[in-house]
Amino acid sequence: MQYKTINVSASRCYDIHIGRGLLAKLGEFIRPLLGECRLAVLTDSNVDALYGNAVVEYLINAGYNVCKYVIPAGEASKCATNLLAFLNFLAQEQITRSDAVIAFGGGVVGDLGGLSASLYLRGIKYVQVPTTLLAAVDSSVGGKTAIDIPAGKNLVGSFYQPVLVCCDTALMDTLPSEIYRDGCAEVIKYGMILDSALYEKLHALPFDRDEVVARCVEIKRDVVQQDEFDNGIRGLLNFGHTFGHAIEKLSDFAVSHGEAVAKGMVIASRMAALMGMCDVADELSSLLVEYGFDISCTYSSNEIFESLLSDKKRRGGTISVVLPRAVGDCTLVALELDELKELLTKVMA
Ligand SMILES: NC(=O)c1ccc[n+]([C@@H]2O[C@H](COP(=O)([O-])OP(=O)(O)OC[C@H]3O[C@@H](n4cnc5c(N)ncnc54)[C@H](O)[C@@H]3O)[C@@H](O)[C@H]2O)c1
Repeated sequence: MQYKTINVSASRCYDIHIGRGLLAKLGEFIRPLLGECRLAVLTDSNVDALYGNAVVEYLINAGYNVCKYVIPAGEASKCATNLLAFLNFLAQEQITRSDAVIAFGGGVVGDLGGLSASLYLRGIKYVQVPTTLLAAVDSSVGGKTAIDIPAGKNLVGSFYQPVLVCCDTALMDTLPSEIYRDGCAEVIKYGMILDSALYEKLHALPFDRDEVVARCVEIKRDVVQQDEFDNGIRGLLNFGHTFGHAIEKLSDFAVSHGEAVAKGMVIASRMAALMGMCDVADELSSLLVEYGFDISCTYSSNEIFESLLSDKKRRGGTISVVLPRAVGDCTLVALELDELKELLTKVMA
């Protein structure tokens, strides 16, 4: 079985294995890291129906004692109620400090599983087994964990690195096309912010999934190693996200995350053009349309501006936005609120 291993050196060092069919090797990968222990698998209802039995069987065959907890699929599950319910499950199953959580699913399961592992008994080990493209290239790497609370998404969380990421890219064969496409928005983002060669490759559809996932993971790894706790360069990963989050919120999350990020990347690129930084907006827009994204924006500049004011990334009188200087080269620019409002008005005119 062919696979690639990428090593992350952050507050905890760990390997990310990427390849088709790797789920069967999960137990083998875990063995040197955890030894004899119990594994608590967290997954969601969709992933469980497709792969729940397989993952448990592989782990049992590798000699592990396994228990499983299934949450309903969907963002609404990334909540305090499920966090407490899963923590309680871990306690009822008598999971100890030498045992571990296996977060087997997309970003929702990864974020909830990671946060639970960081809290239970003041921290037990956990393994990320991403099953969506977004989770593979983004949420399973870098140690950000979170749940949503009524006041906003991802407002409660921790930085807590896994001991291993096992990414079986064959699992993504069963992803509904819109969910796969959401992950493609993040892939295009990586090309835009740091790798023009990757960006160029994305014109040939369908792209080589293993190669592209591995490259995106390397990019995210490099960024996280420089700025694990998100005080500087990690902000580059927010290209398209500041405006995207505003659009997601305005739509009451009817616009998917990927589509919102696609729209956000176009707004940021148009802003960069207006500021004389570069003119890549048309090129980026046509790539996003090739991927099937609707890049139009039905919200006014005022609505977007108002929504931005509650953004987590706001610092007093400025908001940092990520703007392109060229394909493969983005930079963080802190804009005064008045300036941002004026630019948005022109971009959206
Ligand atoms: N921690 C981070 O750094 C980080 C980064 C980006 C996003 N996120 C978070 O990730 C979440 C979004 O992640 P997501 O897009 O993976 O969403 P998700 O976990 O809700 O998965 C999307 C859908 O795909 C289904 N699914 C998962 N794997 C499947 C498979 N192999 N086959 C068929 N269906 C499958 C799920 O059941 C779900 O319905 C958000 O909560 C976001 O905040 C976190």
